[in-house]
Amino acid sequence: MIQKSWKNNLSVTRYLMDICLLVGFILLCLPNITGILLHEWLSLLFIIPFVIHLLLHWDWIISLPKQLISNFKAFKGQARFNLLWDLIFYFAMLIVILSGFLISEAILPQFGIQLTIQPFWAEIHDVFSNLLMPMLGIHLAMHWKWIKSLSVKIFSKK
Ligand code: HEM
Ligand code: HEM
Repeated sequence: MIQKSWKNNLSVTRYLMDICLLVGFILLCLPNITGILLHEWLSLLFIIPFVIHLLLHWDWIISLPKQLISNFKAFKGQARFNLLWDLIFYFAMLIVILSGFLISEAILPQFGIQLTIQPFWAEIHDVFSNLLMPMLGIHLAMHWKWIKSLSVKIFSKK
């Protein structure tokens, strides 16, 4: 009983964090509306729910090397795709965040760090941030059952 309610709480926490992450991500994809200053501060803030999202799946993440090396053949179809997709998505997200800092026009200069902005990193940031959008769509589609069942649970309780 206690274990079940703990699991329910964890699921609700994950659900709420996922909503924060989604809202943050959508705002980050609209720098033309937010302006670059807010875009950069929001992306700094975004790192917090992003890290929490990964920590809430820590057991999954630490088992990843083992799954990829010794267990990969045991994964079939959708599970195998999900494993690879999470990995690709993670690196794409890292590239966007790192390239973002390398082309920073507001935050780094505010901290007194002046980098010469290389058009290469601006291009990388542009291409990968646009790629992240469909990538997130696929990530969410892979967890659609979970999202649907938890939404029904939470909203039907209310
Ligand atoms: C940017 C916005 C993102 C949103 C809205 C989002 C949303 C979700 C949702 C709804 C789930 C399933 C429910 C859950 O257990 O939380 C999930 C699972 C997961 N997400 Fe994300 N996610 C995002 C980004 C990422 C990124 C960049 C990674 C990097 C790898 C990632 C890694 C994972 C992992 C490891 C899981 C659980 C394992 C699995 O895939 O089954 N997520 N995410
Ligand atoms: C998950 C994190 C991020 C996402 C999803 C994201 C997304 C985007 C998008 C969609 C654009 C517009 C690209 C275009 O013109 O098509 C953009 C531009 C920009 N981003 Fe980010 N960004 C992120 C993180 C960052 C970070 C961490 C910084 C710096 C601290 C940053 C700085 C910039 C700057 C300076 C531009 C304007 C680039 C230009 O005018 O060529 N971004 N970002």
